[in-house]
Amino acid sequence: MCGIVAAVAERNIVPVLIEGLKKLEYRGYDSAGVALLNPTLTRLRSVGRVAELAAQAEGQVAHHGIAHTRWATHGVPSQRNAHPHVSGGLAVVHNGIIENYAELKAELQAAGYAFSSDTDTEVVAHLISETLKTVPELFAAVQAVAKRLIGAYAIAVIREWDDCIVVTRHGAPLLLGLGEDGNYAASDASALIQVTRRMVYLEEGDVAELKRGTVRIVGADGTAAERTVHESTLSADAVELGDYAHYMQKEIFEQPQALAATLEMIGGAQSLTPNLFGVAAPEMLKDVKSVLILACGTSCHAGMVARYWIEQLAGIPCTVEIASEYRYRVSVPNPEQLVVAISQSGETADTLASVKHAKSLGMGRTLALCNVPESAIVRECALRFLTRAGPEIGVASTKAFTTQLAALFLLAATLAKQAGRLSADEEAKHLVSLRHLPVAVQKVLALEPAIKAWAGRFADKQHALFLGRGLHYPIALEGALKLKEISYIHAEGYPAGELKHGPLALVDKNMPVVSVAPNDFLLEKLKSNLKEVAARGGELYVFADADSAVDEEPGLHVLRLPEHYGLLSPVLHVVPLQLLSYHVALVKGTDVDKPRNLAKSVTVE
Ligand code: M6R
Repeated sequence: MCGIVAAVAERNIVPVLIEGLKKLEYRGYDSAGVALLNPTLTRLRSVGRVAELAAQAEGQVAHHGIAHTRWATHGVPSQRNAHPHVSGGLAVVHNGIIENYAELKAELQAAGYAFSSDTDTEVVAHLISETLKTVPELFAAVQAVAKRLIGAYAIAVIREWDDCIVVTRHGAPLLLGLGEDGNYAASDASALIQVTRRMVYLEEGDVAELKRGTVRIVGADGTAAERTVHESTLSADAVELGDYAHYMQKEIFEQPQALAATLEMIGGAQSLTPNLFGVAAPEMLKDVKSVLILACGTSCHAGMVARYWIEQLAGIPCTVEIASEYRYRVSVPNPEQLVVAISQSGETADTLASVKHAKSLGMGRTLALCNVPESAIVRECALRFLTRAGPEIGVASTKAFTTQLAALFLLAATLAKQAGRLSADEEAKHLVSLRHLPVAVQKVLALEPAIKAWAGRFADKQHALFLGRGLHYPIALEGALKLKEISYIHAEGYPAGELKHGPLALVDKNMPVVSVAPNDFLLEKLKSNLKEVAARGGELYVFADADSAVDEEPGLHVLRLPEHYGLLSPVLHVVPLQLLSYHVALVKGTDVDKPRNLAKSVTVE
């Protein structure tokens, strides 16, 4: 999604803005732009990569500016729609969607404003200009305009001859960076660690004024606000590509470390404690009678795996809902229910809104399972568990997923213990399995050469089917999502038993069918489903366990994972599917880390 960087400092801020935009590239974008004050306005915009904007900005010097990467919502990706948008001597960058933009645009057109783009952002620029006629101070004008905007937004504004940047946010992320020689703002911390580690997370409705030596924040209620300064622990290396060709590749191979870091707190533990989920957890997780998981995309697939674990281990009913559906449907609230929001970014608009919706229905037992500390979803929930995957840059989520699974298994086992359903023996075994996970995943990564050899056979296909059963049905869904999002091959995940109820009609020699076949109690059932595919000429690619009784035959290709991992097997079985989609995308030559039309942080509906 769109990314914002803003800077006012003693130093030349042009390289800071460009470097910041590069760090935000992973969020997904189609055009980029910058507005500099020196002291009149210079605006540069380009369609395509930040590198092109950087070339245009070569030689520019300024101490005051705003920059943006745009992910198109209103209007096609083009130079005229790229931010910043200007009105008179002011420039605006914006992340989010202004829902009442059409009404505001009509009002501004009637007042004589001409529009040169199709964006909702230009409305904001003209509205500030119009407001400045009666409210001459930029800060106060932005405050007044924010009151008129409906939707989700983060905005940064500069004006010719002014010595400040004014920013505001509502429903979209924005943080401030407090530097030695100036002050900064950005959509996330990765853009600013080049200049400072001292970060302030703005709250909903905050308006802030940044000058070289001062920062002023006013809350949504219009009074001066004190916000906590956080020391960012984000490592600069964590966002560097290093020796890898793509972030997705790096992140797939980082999974052993990411799991080890996430599970560090149970490193030497002899037993599980609800305190893992926050200080209020012992009280809140007590007597949980049902669980509602809310998430989107890959995070939702993690939730679907967790449903099997929670019901099996803890004996507690669990439902998983796609956040964008839950937030708008009329549901029957259960104030005692534990609501678990899963999100890598912690900023996904639908997931955030679904938690707010659950809370508005009286459901106060909320737990965020998230990879980004201090993100909006973490701040919205009463309890938190932070996965420690490190920054995930590739749009296709990989290490976030496996660390979410590890955290969710901890939750299921903890709930089981609270419910008196976990013997000391089982608890000890689960702890051992969890601790061994990084090593087990490392061994699965060694399958890469064999998977690479399979990838070439998928690259010319139009469609693919992914099958799994039980715990591995969500893994089939995840495998299909990975393939479609980065290779653009249409792929569907199905519970294998459902095949004969429709999708079997699609199977022929041109349709590769991938199956997850761990050596569990459903293996024989799954094998019958695979026979149904083979009988229709389908080409089968099976990821089995070392001891799964599935043998190679014409039309049936088998790769074996080194060990069977019981309940935690989904954490291992997803890894070859990640590698498969990565290598298929490489053969197809797609933009692996930034697939078309997608964004990393989905901060709009
Ligand atoms: O940051 P979140 O986990 O809330 O993101 C949810 C989805 O947007 C995300 O998982 C998406 O489906 C990924 N691109 C999948 O690889």
